Amino acid sequence: MIRLGVLVSGNGTNLQAIIDAIEAKKLDAGVNVVISNNPNAYAIQRAKNHNIPVEVILNSTSSAREDYDSIIIETLKRYSVDLVVLAGFMRLLSSKFIRAFPMRIMNIHPALLPAFPGLNVQKKAIDYGVKFSGATVHFVDDGVDTGPIIIQAVVPVYDDDTEETLAERILKEEHRIYPYAIQLFAEGRLEIKGRRVIVKDSKKLEPPYLENPVVSSNKHLLK
Ligand code: GAR
Repeated sequence: MIRLGVLVSGNGTNLQAIIDAIEAKKLDAGVNVVISNNPNAYAIQRAKNHNIPVEVILNSTSSAREDYDSIIIETLKRYSVDLVVLAGFMRLLSSKFIRAFPMRIMNIHPALLPAFPGLNVQKKAIDYGVKFSGATVHFVDDGVDTGPIIIQAVVPVYDDDTEETLAERILKEEHRIYPYAIQLFAEGRLEIKGRRVIVKDSKKLEPPYLENPVVSSNKHLLK
């Protein structure tokens, strides 16, 4: 069983999905500490509901990013964490942090990277006019949302979508793939080769694949 340190800033629905997967015995891990930079994050309550230790480390603790990160690193080491899980943690990490846990920090991002890194990405996807978006779990490197990709899930973007309806559709997929990505790590099935993450013994999709809008069965169009 691997030991997780989950970093949060907000609602914590991904934290909840991880806790639920552990309790359902689909994820062979324990959440040993939840760290929040936001004292009002609902994620804190979710952790407390499951008797998980919570550490609130305010952004104002230190103005220098490296000093702030040193406190988080020290806290994660105190709980002997094997894998750091960013679950809606709205703060960039310093390279000192990345070096402290090389390829042992995962993040979930609500878009199909490398499209739409950064913030407000559901709006960016709608404004760009893509027909699909989704969620990406990746290892964290020095860049913003640039690390090796572990798993992605795709959702359609509809003409009448708002930022909220798309975010909700993506979030459902996040809750499916994040616990699974962590389980793959726990089983030692993730092999990093340069930018690529090879997932040992993974299943392949069968055609037909996806299109959006759905191709009409109109014979005239199909010819
Ligand atoms: C999720 O959609 C996650 O992908 C996103 O914040 C939300 C957190 O929700 N993360 C980022 O945008 C990171 N750049 P949650 O607190 O309910 O898990």
